[in-house]
Amino acid sequence: MHIPVLLKEVIEYLNPTSNENFIDATIGEGGHSLAILKKIAPQGKVLGVEIDSAIYETVKNKSKNEERLILVNDSYVNIEKIVNDLQFQPVNGILFDLGMCSWQIDESKRGFSYLKDEPLDMRFSPESTLTAAEIVNFWEVDDLERILKDYGEEKYAKRIALAIKETRRKKRIVGTQELVEILKKALPKNYDNYRLSPAARTFQALRITVNNELENLKMGLTMALKILSPQGRVVVISFHSLEDRIVKNFFRDNTKQSTLKTLTKKPITSSQEEIKNNIRSHSAKLRAVLKI
Ligand SMILES: C[S@@+](CC[C@H](N)C(=O)[O-])C[C@H]1O[C@@H](n2cnc3c(N)ncnc32)[C@H](O)[C@@H]1O
Repeated sequence: MHIPVLLKEVIEYLNPTSNENFIDATIGEGGHSLAILKKIAPQGKVLGVEIDSAIYETVKNKSKNEERLILVNDSYVNIEKIVNDLQFQPVNGILFDLGMCSWQIDESKRGFSYLKDEPLDMRFSPESTLTAAEIVNFWEVDDLERILKDYGEEKYAKRIALAIKETRRKKRIVGTQELVEILKKALPKNYDNYRLSPAARTFQALRITVNNELENLKMGLTMALKILSPQGRVVVISFHSLEDRIVKNFFRDNTKQSTLKTLTKKPITSSQEEIKNNIRSHSAKLRAVLKI
């Protein structure tokens, strides 16, 4: 079961009130949406977007009796078209809760976790074509090195790329643990990432690449501003520095152009209490803006 991160703070910054409409651009297992629906009763609606068809089906079944929740199985990059097609207006607020759901890590069997032994897939949407296995087995060493640097902030990117090349000359790399073993051998024993796992940065880089996450985020934020009503709010929860930088810069640029007002001077983070109950929340950063 996915525990919604920074739930109290999401409600505080979205500030949902009776009969308003909200978009949950990454509805996942619906934790934030359920709380928003309560606040906007009796007439307010939530439009929930989810790229993963398996999660979409689950939340659809779970919320069969909730008439004020409209669900769409699509990417939030298409949010402008979705809103126009459904004539979902006004839009009083939009939430982006980035990254993965617990179900995707724990149960999807798509290789998101370096702690499990699963096929190297990592697609949010089973309909998309690029998999982590394709990248690891077929991409040029320079491209591997580039994504490890750019999306994993991995200082041993070249070393890892060469180790992958060496292994795949002998055999296809198909499972997550095969990749973890390559990384363990390639990285120095005292590598400071061992606090986390030697695989953490590489897995992050592959997942971001497979799902085009950073480009999608830029596009999604641009679309959100277009469809948001005046005085509407955008709240974004990010889970690593690459995402947070994009959100921070996007909000800053639009604040300068006087299209947005910043509601969070510094990003909001989880309390010690929340981190104790939900380890996933330890890296969460929430930023919020108001459309002028
Ligand atoms: C952290 S979870 C959301 C959890 C949710 N707020 C809750 O409380 O249950 C992020 C979700 O966003 C989905 N997602 C990722 N990229 C997406 C995109 N481009 N469009 C729509 N959904 C996306 C993932 O599949 C995942 O289910």
